[in-house]
Amino acid sequence: MTSSLSPTPPVPPERPRVAVIGAGPSGLYAAAALLASDVTPVDVDVIDRLPAPYGLVRYGVAPDHVKMKSVIRVLQRPFADGSRVRFLGNVTVGEGGIPLDVLREHYHAVIHATGSSLDRDLGIPGEELAGSHGSGAFVSWYCGHPDATLLNPLLDAEGVVVVGAGNVALDIARVLARGHAEMAATDVPDHVLAALERSAVRDVHVVIRRGPQHVRFTPAELRQIGDLDDVDVLVHDDGILEAGVEDPAGGGNTDRRQRQNIEMLTSWTSNVAGTASRRIHLHFLRSPVRLEGSDGRVERVVVQRNVIRDGRVVGTGEEETYDAGLVVRAIGYSGEPIPGLPFDEENGVVPSDGGRVVRDAVPVPGAYVTGWIKRGPTGVIGTNKHDAIETVEKLLEDLATLPEARRADRDAIFDRFAEYGVEPVTWDDWLNLDAEEIRLGEARGGAERVKVAGLDAMLDACRATSVG
Ligand SMILES: Cc1cc2nc3c(=O)[nH]c(=O)nc-3n(C[C@H](O)[C@H](O)[C@H](O)COP(=O)(O)OP(=O)(O)OC[C@H]3O[C@@H](n4cnc5c(N)ncnc54)[C@H](O)[C@@H]3O)c2cc1C
Ligand SMILES: NC(=O)c1ccc[n+]([C@@H]2O[C@H](COP(=O)([O-])OP(=O)(O)OC[C@H]3O[C@@H](n4cnc5c(N)ncnc54)[C@H](OP(=O)(O)O)[C@@H]3O)[C@@H](O)[C@H]2O)c1
Repeated sequence: MTSSLSPTPPVPPERPRVAVIGAGPSGLYAAAALLASDVTPVDVDVIDRLPAPYGLVRYGVAPDHVKMKSVIRVLQRPFADGSRVRFLGNVTVGEGGIPLDVLREHYHAVIHATGSSLDRDLGIPGEELAGSHGSGAFVSWYCGHPDATLLNPLLDAEGVVVVGAGNVALDIARVLARGHAEMAATDVPDHVLAALERSAVRDVHVVIRRGPQHVRFTPAELRQIGDLDDVDVLVHDDGILEAGVEDPAGGGNTDRRQRQNIEMLTSWTSNVAGTASRRIHLHFLRSPVRLEGSDGRVERVVVQRNVIRDGRVVGTGEEETYDAGLVVRAIGYSGEPIPGLPFDEENGVVPSDGGRVVRDAVPVPGAYVTGWIKRGPTGVIGTNKHDAIETVEKLLEDLATLPEARRADRDAIFDRFAEYGVEPVTWDDWLNLDAEEIRLGEARGGAERVKVAGLDAMLDACRATSVG
């Protein structure tokens, strides 16, 4: 028997509205999962600070990985419906844009999918010199990200140092070593192509702090540097590979991927510098200790040789120097704190329980997180699909207890944008920019697209006569 005093069970909103902040893979997989849900129809706005969707697929995946970019055919699917999932680009949430609190008034739930965009530092002297960049900034430059149009990296010296042993380090080494003609067939903007054509780079030194058995890059990426035309790959391993890296002093695992890497690296140990125009040097067991230069510009990198003791990197004090006019540290990223949400400073992520944002282990009502800002900066594009599905499952479980959206009208958000001087870019606007980039690709010849660089030029292209 139900007592007249028993509380009414919570009722889910009739048509919940969800804002997804970030139109990278995790945000778009989350939108797709919401759309696919048969729990209840949900209206979704995917908000991004850029006028273009796809996050790091557009501004991280290397330009010469053309096939990889075809994943956008999958990622764009939620927008095909035209009404339930809307794209609202050119909208920054947080500092300099629309405050999160304001957004919350319009949505029952917010999924944060803002990625990890901050470069980590090595914390060594000389990092501030001109010519020293984090991989985020450098990759943004060659991918034509509007924030990095003016980076102008110095490609006028023969030597370059790339620090790190992940796939990003190999992407950067490959792009710098690849010939200009091959890069012309990619989507790099014209100013990047022109800089690569003028490039004086001959020796790309990849500095790896541990041994060949500890690298994080994958065999597929490693093979690609071996396959580059007119490039010699030289392995500087102090004879470790020949001695056999299963040496327990290495402390690394030798799973299938590592074995493939080791086989490949071992086969390259006999390579010698030949007549190739460019060389990629893989230096193992070395850590940069300082960057040196003059007139405020980097000229060389001093590295220290390491040994691995009990699985830990220990410097020997023995130093070597590589001449370099450009230094890129590809040592990982950190997420940016989101004002109004808890933040785990140590790991650079928003703390969550399977995607429910938590403060001191207590869920923050209506706040969810997915992708790199949830897990940290690791994992390939596909990893974000399972991650987004997990987050959306949590949100759907919570439907009945989501906070009220104070604004009943779905379009009321546009008035708030206007209040904050924000002019959103719609999906049709983006399609205008997309069409312009495809046209530029045809004009260059042999490129699927050429990116429009610079925020103003992107917005102009968006606002050209609508394709629709
Ligand atoms: C250099 C590089 C190359 C890579 N290459 C590959 C590859 O070849 N293959 C592969 O499988 N994986 C690759 N990855 C990994 C892959 O890109 C990531 O797994 C994936 O992009 C992470 O998705 P995300 O949605 O969490 O973040 P992101 O892709 O970074 O998307 C975050 C989005 O949030 C937006 N945003 C951020 N802050 C705000 C804000 N305040 N307001 C509004 N919007 C905001 C950003 O503009 C961006 O669009 C690469 C990663 C890097 C760094
Ligand atoms: N083609 C592709 O599929 C592709 C392309 C690009 C990126 N991605 C993915 O994107 C993710 C991010 O890639 P990532 O390369 O940025 O990260 P990553 O794979 O985590 O590699 C980071 C590298 O930086 C090194 N490092 C960290 N701190 C250092 C320090 N202080 N000094 C020297 N070295 C340091 C690490 O060495 P230790 O191991 O010794 O810590 C590691 O080798 C990865 O999951 C990657 O697979 C995929």
